[in-house]
Amino acid sequence: MKKTLLPLALFSSLLLANGYEIYKNNCASCHIEMIAKEEVLNNLDKMKAPPMVEVSNQIRSNIIIKDDDEDVHKHLFVLFVKDYIRNPELSKSMCHPGALERFDVMPSLKTKLTEQEAQEVATWLYERYEGVAFR
Ligand code: HEC
Repeated sequence: MKKTLLPLALFSSLLLANGYEIYKNNCASCHIEMIAKEEVLNNLDKMKAPPMVEVSNQIRSNIIIKDDDEDVHKHLFVLFVKDYIRNPELSKSMCHPGALERFDVMPSLKTKLTEQEAQEVATWLYERYEGVAFR
């Protein structure tokens, strides 16, 4: 049993590292990784999209499940993000109306990311901000 667990743990941390690479190459030009809420106004002219820390927290808190199961919560988060980045639409966005007005709807990354890459970056988006509030 132990023999199979170690490679699995290694594999999942490699996936996470890969998720971060995918973020840097495909998302970072628009979504900055980390910023304090009070700094947003000062940096608005440099931003093309809401900061990643805000996006992650927004979706995390909007997905509410009945029995508080972390795995189910994460699964639904990843499903939403995976779909959103490949098929973004105004009607699906959980973004603040003010932000939507300022930034407009995200362009689709369908031709740039495979389903596997979308899965990895969505998982990174969940795990990167576990316990990291936007404030
Ligand atoms: C060209 C700029 C641009 C790039 C590149 C980009 N985004 Fe976005 N994204 C936006 C904008 C603008 C919004 C806000 C409007 C909206 O919700 O569509 C947004 C919104 C989102 C949302 C939805 C937020 C919500 O609350 O509904 C998610 C999730 C997201 N982006 C993830 C990503 C990920 C992950 C990547 C990289 C794989 C990425 N974005 C790359 C511009 C971008």
